[in-house]
Formats: sequence, C-alpha cells, structure tokens
Amino acid sequence: MPKLIVVTREGEEHVIEAKSGLSVMEVIRDDGIDELLALCGGCCSCATCHVHIDPAFKDRLPKMSDDENDLLDSSEHRDANSRLSCQITVTDALDGLKVTIAEED
Ligand code: FES
Repeated sequence: MPKLIVVTREGEEHVIEAKSGLSVMEVIRDDGIDELLALCGGCCSCATCHVHIDPAFKDRLPKMSDDENDLLDSSEHRDANSRLSCQITVTDALDGLKVTIAEED
C-alpha cells in the first residue's frame, strides 16, 4: 500500500497507509484528520479540501481540470503547489507523497 505523509495546519505529521483508488481527500478524512472539511464530498465544487503538494511529485499527479483551477483561484492561500485533494487518486506511483493541509480561507 502506498504511504501518504499528511502535515496538519499545526505541523503534525501523519504517515498513513493509503488504499489505491481512493482520493487523497478520502484517505485524510478516513484517518480521522478533521481539518479538511471536504464539504462537497469530492465532486470538485467547494475547495475545502485544498492541500499543498510536495513539488517533487507534481509530474506524477493527474492533470488539473479547469474546474479545479477555477476553484483554487477562489483561495487566498493558493500557491504553485496547490491542489484539491479530492481530485488526486492514490496510486502506487504516489508512494511517499507529502501533502500539507492548506490554511483555512
Ligand atoms: S471536497 Fe469539495 S472540492 Fe474537494
């Protein structure tokens, strides 16, 4: 199982065994980390699952859709490594991926 490293807003690191096929948002939520609201349940319409991704993994992530891009634009905390975690499916290629939960908007 691929491992995800999730850093909370307080800087706490959680190493989570992630099931391939789930989204990064689902993995974080299922681990009991409650900082990620994920209000829309993963249908790319809320931007409350915003994370900052380890840039080393950028090329291995699915391409960003226009909808995701537009939603991220609504965040004051967007940076070059921002993604919506519900739009990233866990695969073996993402083993070791580190994501940091974005500041609250
Ligand atoms: S959970 Fe709503 S956009 Fe990701």
